[in-house]
Amino acid sequence: MSRAIRAWLHEAARSGDAVAAARAAAEAVAADPWAVVREAGALARCHLVPTPTDRRLTPEITVPAGAPWPAPHPGRAAKGAWDTPPELARRAVAAAGQGGVTLDPACGSGALLLAAHEAGADEIWGTDLDPAALAVAAVAVPRARLGLADALAPGAAVDRVVINPPFVAAELQSRASRAALRERWPWLSGRFDLSVAVIAAASERVRRGGGLGIVAPASLLTEPYAAGLRARWLATDRVTTLGPVERFPGVAARVAVVGVIVGGPPGPVPSGIGAEDLLALRGVPLDPAARPGDAAILRTAAARSIPLGDLAVIDTGVVSHGPDGGKASRLFDLPGPGRVPYADARGFFAGERRWLAYEPKRMHRAKSPALFEVPKVVVQRIGRGLVRAAVDREGVYVGHTCTVVVPREIAPELVCRFLTDPLTAGLLQIAHGSRLDLYPHDVADLPFPRSWLEGAASPLEAAWGLDRAQSRRLAALALAGRLK
Ligand SMILES: C[S@@+](CC[C@H](N)C(=O)[O-])C[C@H]1O[C@@H](n2cnc3c(N)ncnc32)[C@H](O)[C@@H]1O
Repeated sequence: MSRAIRAWLHEAARSGDAVAAARAAAEAVAADPWAVVREAGALARCHLVPTPTDRRLTPEITVPAGAPWPAPHPGRAAKGAWDTPPELARRAVAAAGQGGVTLDPACGSGALLLAAHEAGADEIWGTDLDPAALAVAAVAVPRARLGLADALAPGAAVDRVVINPPFVAAELQSRASRAALRERWPWLSGRFDLSVAVIAAASERVRRGGGLGIVAPASLLTEPYAAGLRARWLATDRVTTLGPVERFPGVAARVAVVGVIVGGPPGPVPSGIGAEDLLALRGVPLDPAARPGDAAILRTAAARSIPLGDLAVIDTGVVSHGPDGGKASRLFDLPGPGRVPYADARGFFAGERRWLAYEPKRMHRAKSPALFEVPKVVVQRIGRGLVRAAVDREGVYVGHTCTVVVPREIAPELVCRFLTDPLTAGLLQIAHGSRLDLYPHDVADLPFPRSWLEGAASPLEAAWGLDRAQSRRLAALALAGRLK
């Protein structure tokens, strides 16, 4: 690293230009292209700022006060700028297949371009919004055709697109840009990560019959906001590589390599599950751990059941804040006039209660007292593995981190037993993948066995008519979800 740093410091002090400094760092280690990506790439993501005091960068290198040093860029998270390690880059490139022009529309310092070069790509193109990263990519892969461009902008169709998109959480995106993206892809919903939009744009750059190789955030495989994209891959394209889910080195992100042939023909995903089976699930999950036969378990259970939504009122809890302030202004530690007992998911299951000044007209999504002041089942919305649920007969108003189930003619205890059964957790994993976010419609879809309505609450596997292998599979899924 020290050669690249020295070159960066020298050029930064000479020209004060971050792009020139990144290029100098890259040229200093040009003999090893992966060192260019790794070392100069990291420097290209830094700010060029004078250090107020002497600053030790490595045991051998100290930057004197007043000279520029490579400060970590404050906007790095908002740009999603993390470079792909070589082995992962190679797998993403392999997932896109071979031949013709390979484009990385968010190429950064060139990891995927370099992997494409190693794989013998005919032509290599790259674009990015970061000129310093592009200067590094130009040294890493001299034959690549590079340019400054927005990956979201439409462009010429190519044979292969490889991409590790910027992962940018909803709260780091501007309202205006989110609205524009939703207009372009109406299926984009909820708190979508920017990566989903960038991947949608990338798919549109691939010619029919061409390939897409993605380092995808794991959330893309199961989150409802990306269901539209998954549905398209299954209905009109063909998923040829899927997972496993793995950690992205150096960042708290989980990713999976996904390969897609654009324009199909549609067919089973690599694990052997038919595209139609996955398309029939509301969440259209693309879970690498799913197996052939899983969807049949759902169908078997559904055939002997009634959707829970037909037997209960199901809704999310109350959103306590309103236009006149956050929830802190409505929540109290002590009871008082107009206050109702309240708990969010964590507090509810810990047995903690607070007091909510309940004024429906001044609250967002206040819901109705009829949802809370009756015997009900409170379900924790977000989690892994087993469903967390408990019966409440004390009229607690729960927050929107909970889903509330008010059974019409069944005992709440029976509904609670149904929801917390490990087999139900296994079934949910088939329907949604391993991260549970139990919105009312997800709970409403659950197949409540008819025989339980008739008073015979036999074990769920019998009530659903599952064979031994099927119930073992559900139990294993529930256990694996808990361990994840
Ligand atoms: C996760 S990095 C991946 C870089 C490189 N492809 C790799 O695999 O190492 C994402 C890249 O997207 C770039 N980026 C962010 N928003 C972009 C946009 N709208 N258009 C093009 N590139 C963008 C960032 O500068 C960053 O280089």
